[in-house]
Amino acid sequence: MKLSAPGHYVLTFDAGQKMASAVKPGQFLGVAMDTGGMQFLRRPFSFYSADPETGHASILFSVYGATTAQMARLAPGETLDILGPLGGRAFTPDTRPGAHQVMVGGGYGVPPLAFLARRLLTADPDSSVTLINGARTAEFLVGTEGLETLGIHLREATNDGSRGTQGLVTLILQEILEARAEHVPIHIYTCGPTPMMRAVAEMAMRYEVPCQVSMEVFMPCGVGICMGCAVERTDQTFARGCTDGPVFEAREVAWK
Ligand SMILES: Cc1cc2nc3c(=O)[nH]c(=O)nc-3n(C[C@H](O)[C@H](O)[C@H](O)COP(=O)(O)OP(=O)(O)OC[C@H]3O[C@@H](n4cnc5c(N)ncnc54)[C@H](O)[C@@H]3O)c2cc1C
Ligand code: FES
Repeated sequence: MKLSAPGHYVLTFDAGQKMASAVKPGQFLGVAMDTGGMQFLRRPFSFYSADPETGHASILFSVYGATTAQMARLAPGETLDILGPLGGRAFTPDTRPGAHQVMVGGGYGVPPLAFLARRLLTADPDSSVTLINGARTAEFLVGTEGLETLGIHLREATNDGSRGTQGLVTLILQEILEARAEHVPIHIYTCGPTPMMRAVAEMAMRYEVPCQVSMEVFMPCGVGICMGCAVERTDQTFARGCTDGPVFEAREVAWK
């Protein structure tokens, strides 16, 4: 399905009930496309949804190069070569009573957070979930369709002020952290461009709030073999982004 944001699509496919039941928000899949060129690596995409009852799952993607361009041309009924679910560590929801779950996303970091938000609100409609979605302009604010009817608090930030707060997502995050009540635990989950995640992680550490980050680094194999997805830890050891992550505690990562 083509979204109103230029070059953005939601691709829904039959993953089978086994895969759809196993997938956790933060996990991803590898797509192989025969693009006719020298393109051998599967391309990683986060799960945007997975429904154990129907076996359907989806990803939300934007067209970047050859693989995504070809994915955008898929017609209903065509076959998709996928490998998944991949990712050894998904988002772990905070189970402290009354916890305020605050998600901060930008660009293609929003789909896994929207998936997490949907899962949390479906399991417990009284959950307190805020999703801060950031983009350059209003037309690129995608991925949160349908969440407001589930009861999410949606906050938006755009660089040009065309919708929501003008400026960065961290302006809204700071406002939430400043206004927090002593007795309400907060947990932050973030995914998006590295500079955004670094700023969110630093703010979370400054306010001493737990924060999970999904590191969307280059992932040549996605299954722990090539070490092409190294994420440096604060103790100067390296983790595999694909099988040790993609989700890490913010304080584990050596932010550069
Ligand atoms: C864990 C993870 C989750 C992702 N989730 C999404 C998502 O939900 N939606 C979305 O639109 N995009 C997502 N991406 C980015 C997506 O993988 C790239 O947009 C895609 O690989 C582009 O492929 P292409 O052939 O169209 O473009 P290409 O021209 O081949 O590549 C364009 C750029 O994509 C990146 N890229 C290419 N191959 C890989 C690879 N194997 N691993 C990581 N990055 C690569 C590189 O930065 C490259 O410069 C995710 C990436 C990672 C690592
Ligand atoms: S992508 Fe190959 S080890 Fe992680």
